[in-house]
Amino acid sequence: MEVTVREAEPDDWQECGRICYEAFGTLAARHGFPPDFPTVAAAAEPIRYLINHPHVYGVVAEGGGRILGSNFLDERSTISGLGPISVDPTAQDHKVGRALMTAVLDRAVERRAPGVRLLQIAYHNRSLSLYAKLGFDVRGSFAAMYGEPLGISMPGYAVRAATSADEAACNALCVRVHGHDRAGELREAIADGNAKVVERLGRITGYTTGITYFSHSVAETTDDLQALIGAAADFGRPGFLVPLANTQLFRWSLAHDLRVFFVVNMMTIGIYQEPAGAYMPSVGY
Ligand SMILES: CC(C)(COP(=O)(O)OP(=O)(O)OC[C@H]1O[C@@H](n2cnc3c(N)ncnc32)[C@H](O)[C@@H]1OP(=O)(O)O)[C@@H](O)C(=O)NCCC(=O)NCCS
Repeated sequence: MEVTVREAEPDDWQECGRICYEAFGTLAARHGFPPDFPTVAAAAEPIRYLINHPHVYGVVAEGGGRILGSNFLDERSTISGLGPISVDPTAQDHKVGRALMTAVLDRAVERRAPGVRLLQIAYHNRSLSLYAKLGFDVRGSFAAMYGEPLGISMPGYAVRAATSADEAACNALCVRVHGHDRAGELREAIADGNAKVVERLGRITGYTTGITYFSHSVAETTDDLQALIGAAADFGRPGFLVPLANTQLFRWSLAHDLRVFFVVNMMTIGIYQEPAGAYMPSVGY
């Protein structure tokens, strides 16, 4: 079957959403894991958001007169975040995924993106192998943690909603920790009312775009991250991503009765530096 790849269009969201739900659900069931997206709507809504987002590049694969899968590249900040990629279970393992990956990587080259990153579900041997073959390096592993909100406030660590006046300090912190900012995502999270900062002695020492799977956090210390996590109202599922290399944060999360949903690997192409501080990635990177 000949497979073609084109840019995603607004009307594609329902079929791409169904495929995303079934692709992830079938895979999870085969490995004895709960589904990433509990319903078709839970998969389709994020797909609709991504297709309509002006700074997200979406592609759709077609063959035999039907949509076979989709893939996305989040271009809101310096580094591009790849995913979710999904291929109809009836069409998997026939190079459709490779075609969808190649299409967004070509786009990154065209735009001269300094780096592309993704988080890969560690139990999926096929995606791990495909991404490695395409040039992605594994940089670390992360536990998605979920559970009841902790309702903890830490003396000396003031957590409050972020405003646009905080953007410069948050972006500077991100540059210190990662070598680049995530200004586009931060600006959107502030506008949506999801971003928070933690302050010590009146100085911003950490920020989060939300303690969820889809949000990232950057801080000077693990204690700053704990203050942000402690103040979060809801983690959702699969939950926020704790670097397994941060043993203090991982054990602290377990000690607060949070549970591991699954483990994911961060994979990168292009510029990358070891983070010089505390952080939690989003599912993008
Ligand atoms: C991941 C996914 C997008 C890949 O798409 P696909 O069309 O099935 O994959 P492809 O056939 O294009 O590529 C698979 C590659 O991995 C290789 N591969 C598969 N299993 C492998 C294994 N166990 N060890 C080594 N290589 C393996 C194949 O040989 C192929 O390589 P090639 O292109 O060099 O021949 C698809 O399986 C999917 O939708 N999965 C469910 C959702 C998901 O997991 N998304 C990604 C989340 S991280």
